[in-house]
Amino acid sequence: MCGIVGYIGDKDVVDVLIDGLSALEYRGYDSAGISVVEDDKITTIKAEGRLDNLKNMIYSRDKINSQIGIGHTRWATHGEPSDVNSHPHVTARLTLVHNGIIENYQEIKKILVEKGYKFASQTDTEVAANLIDSLYENDPIAAIKKASEIIEGSYAFAIIFNDILNKVYATRSGSPLIVALGDNEHFLASDVPAILKYTRNYILLEEGDIVELEKDKITLYDKNLKIMKPQIHEATWTLEQAEKSGYEHFMLKEIYEQPKALLDTVESRIIEGLPSFERDNIDDDFFTGFNRIEIIACGTAMHAGMIGKWLYESVCRINVECSIASEFRYKNPILSKDTLAIFVSQSGETADTLAALRLAKSAGVKTLAIVNVNGSSIAREADYVIYTYAGPEISVASTKAYSVQMAVMYLLVFKTALVRKLIDSKKASEFVGQLLSAIDSVNDALLLSDEIKEYVNNFLDSSSIFFLGRGLDYYQSLEGALKLKEISYIHCEAYAGGELKHGTISLITKDIHVVALTTQEHLASKMISNIKEVVTRGAKVLIFTKKGYEVDDSAYKQCIYLPKLDDMFMPIVTVVALQLLAYHTSVAKGCDVDKPRNLAKSVTVE
Ligand code: F6R
Repeated sequence: MCGIVGYIGDKDVVDVLIDGLSALEYRGYDSAGISVVEDDKITTIKAEGRLDNLKNMIYSRDKINSQIGIGHTRWATHGEPSDVNSHPHVTARLTLVHNGIIENYQEIKKILVEKGYKFASQTDTEVAANLIDSLYENDPIAAIKKASEIIEGSYAFAIIFNDILNKVYATRSGSPLIVALGDNEHFLASDVPAILKYTRNYILLEEGDIVELEKDKITLYDKNLKIMKPQIHEATWTLEQAEKSGYEHFMLKEIYEQPKALLDTVESRIIEGLPSFERDNIDDDFFTGFNRIEIIACGTAMHAGMIGKWLYESVCRINVECSIASEFRYKNPILSKDTLAIFVSQSGETADTLAALRLAKSAGVKTLAIVNVNGSSIAREADYVIYTYAGPEISVASTKAYSVQMAVMYLLVFKTALVRKLIDSKKASEFVGQLLSAIDSVNDALLLSDEIKEYVNNFLDSSSIFFLGRGLDYYQSLEGALKLKEISYIHCEAYAGGELKHGTISLITKDIHVVALTTQEHLASKMISNIKEVVTRGAKVLIFTKKGYEVDDSAYKQCIYLPKLDDMFMPIVTVVALQLLAYHTSVAKGCDVDKPRNLAKSVTVE
């Protein structure tokens, strides 16, 4: 949700900023802009739309000779996508880029207007820039600190002051920001992939930190303005992981990376055939310290949470609630001392999930985060963290991150059952073996790609597609429908097989498409009845079932056979087929697969 970059060093700043913005474009693509120091003044260039528009603008003018600058790629919150609402925002005394939302910007704007400040845009960012301008008395750190005491909301800012053109300033609260260290050069970025081309060493800014960057020096202040010694981290991700590597789209690459991502995540947590979270500093006592579980997340991550709920309830018989983070945080949730709250997030920065985590912590509940991005806010703030090893996920639609989140859920459930003696070591190791076989079968599910690609031609004129499933298949239907609608713009809805006839079946008419999942043997006959109900009303049904299960061919237009696994492990392969279904439909419809309209990865605003 907006990406910011900054650079100070000896390199051509335009190249560095454009590289950084390209790597961060998944965070927003409504507009992009840069400000660079050239001939003792700041030059700002910005353009509505994709980064390519900005690039065309920059590269069609005289070459810029500059080594200092800041840049931004925008996901519009306040103010429509337009040139004037694009960042950087320029005031009389500074230029600023922002990621986040200033919640009290209207109040601040009113005061500034009374002081004579004028505003060109509808953005909260222009207000923040002018607030800092109004507080500036030749001491950038003091002005930023004073502004932070007034601003409510979330922000990461990068700022250049007109009278200090050889330094870049930055601060953050609620939105992520890193400072990366090169050779006689420093970088600012919202996320690690933006700096991988140049360096692997970086500092994670803490809440309220303010940093002053010079070419050869960093001065880091904490929120009390105490000078701190920066703690340097080394990126574990590589540049190759963050590139398309010959695939047409990141999404396809990420779908195909799933066998490796799953193995990386799971194998490191198997010791002598049994699940172990020792490397995550989670010992056996942890697994006996709760009697209720709350799983909290957004979107796809929440769907992984639903799989976790199903597994915990069926294997461990523990009561689990799975909540959408934005609902959880405002519902006055029941959080007793025996509750374990699990937060699932690829980015580790999703604003609602982070706020829900803070709420759970303030209620004294034990918190566990399942997160993909190292050092992200959710990972840092939870009591315990289990990292998934999916590598960078660039496509806005989540694929491999979901699979590894599910895999962690399986391991957590097996470990809990083992520690609580609900299963013995033999059973636990059998479960682990089944999980590893399921991961191996993902390779077979990927082989269905061509068959699925051919089928999606049926969808091209569809205005609505319904997904049906029961039990675990219902949760996968939710994920399949989300994936397909977000990247193909076809309206999709998921229903529990038995629920459709309680209202929605009135929408099933001749030629409406239905995707039906029947991978759960104990529910298959029920699902077939539900499928027949829609076929009778003229629906065209695509069934995903598992090999060896015979489906009466009057029930479908096409039946695609997934690898055969025990019911409990079928989600691992089913989701791969659903991801391919969404991907091929999006490509066939000519949509922008990796950057669907209106969306951004890493939703850092609520
Ligand atoms: C959908 C998708 C989103 C994310 C959601 C949570 O394909 O990617 O629904 O799952 O925004 O994001 P994280 O996992 O970063 O908290």
